[in-house]
Amino acid sequence: MTKTLKKVESSLHGKISVPGDKSISHRAVIFGSLAEGKTEITGFLDGEDCMRTIDAFEALGVKIEKDEQSIIIHGNGVSGLKEPERPIYLGNSGTTARLIMGVLAGLPFHCVLHGDESLSNRPMDRITVPLRKMGANIDGREEGKYLPISIRGGNLRNIQFQSPVKSAQVKSGVLLAGLLADGKTEVKESAITRDHTERMLQAFGGMVSVEEDRISIDGKQSLRGANVQVPGDISSASFFLVAAAIVEKSHVTLENVGLNQTRTGILDVLKKMGASIQVKVKDPIGGEPIGDITVSYAPLKGTVIEGDIIPRLIDELPVVALLATQAEGETIIRDAEELRYKETDRIAAVVETLKTFGADISGTEDGMIINGKTELSGAKADSYGDHRIGMMIAIASLIAKGEVQLTNPECINISYPEFFDDLAKISSTLS
Ligand code: S3P
Repeated sequence: MTKTLKKVESSLHGKISVPGDKSISHRAVIFGSLAEGKTEITGFLDGEDCMRTIDAFEALGVKIEKDEQSIIIHGNGVSGLKEPERPIYLGNSGTTARLIMGVLAGLPFHCVLHGDESLSNRPMDRITVPLRKMGANIDGREEGKYLPISIRGGNLRNIQFQSPVKSAQVKSGVLLAGLLADGKTEVKESAITRDHTERMLQAFGGMVSVEEDRISIDGKQSLRGANVQVPGDISSASFFLVAAAIVEKSHVTLENVGLNQTRTGILDVLKKMGASIQVKVKDPIGGEPIGDITVSYAPLKGTVIEGDIIPRLIDELPVVALLATQAEGETIIRDAEELRYKETDRIAAVVETLKTFGADISGTEDGMIINGKTELSGAKADSYGDHRIGMMIAIASLIAKGEVQLTNPECINISYPEFFDDLAKISSTLS
């Protein structure tokens, strides 16, 4: 499918409530499935990735009810999980893959996992290596580097694990395995990554100790069902934050967005580049801080984005690159090599795509260099099947001088099925 997108006729105005946070939605299903008793999740993201997590736990024998308002999980504890009859399909979802491997490593049965073409080419050794050290039997393509992977788990021993990659998925997979293992498991991070697993574990009655970059968990804890309210996803909100920052005279508010410190790097970067931002902090929900964010257009300047901020905005970097094309001067993004292992190689995809729009951008091994401000032209651009590249292209079309033809827009359903409806609410471009 191809979608034709046109430049916005005037400025962007209005309010949007973005859908539920993807990372938190996945974890709510996982913890609800490991717990004893009922879990009710409201504000759940019904994007394709989170549906794969629901399917996976249903395949492991968990009863999950879905309606318009909520997801209800009837948990029977870890011992209630059963060997699946068929291989489990994980679609495009890296989070489902890395986290469920941690769970399966602790379960005394056999399971095969497979995914779509993109997921089948993403590295899984980052999680299979520590899980094998804990005692799980794992095999797979190229010795367990890639899906399909088969796991026969059970009888795990604890480890002290220093994660070589800055990845919340790896940290969470090992912590989940640690929850099912004997003894105390410790994960040391090389940079602080999103901490939704640690927070949600506590909401389900579990105990985890966090000392800066060192997280430890006692094994064999039992969890009890909980009610989880999922905040709006700041990664989804960031597309509209950037849109308001680059379309002249705009003024847009994103309501009830998660403001967890490990995720708000995009706000720091927008401020540093000169955007006008107001944050109205509200009462926390589900153990997570939230608030309304308002962005108004203001002239932008280039900046350097590097170091510890990178994991705090890793998913936002494609749209940050677009933002940088509209800032005066040079923007440098470095220390972001992880972008090469996402749904697509996001350094290559962003550079290729923004060049076709006429941007002055080049890729480096671990980032990008962008020189602005550049007037963008119309283009034919492909999403590469990557939701965040698809949404970046749609936001670029708001300021591009000619028509934009976006091929493969369907992948946006992975994290934001209502994206074009929400865009239409604040603009008058879309037919
Ligand atoms: C996620 C962690 C990040 C992020 C992904 C979601 C999570 O991946 O890019 O979209 O929910 O833990 P990595 O852990 O690979 O950095």
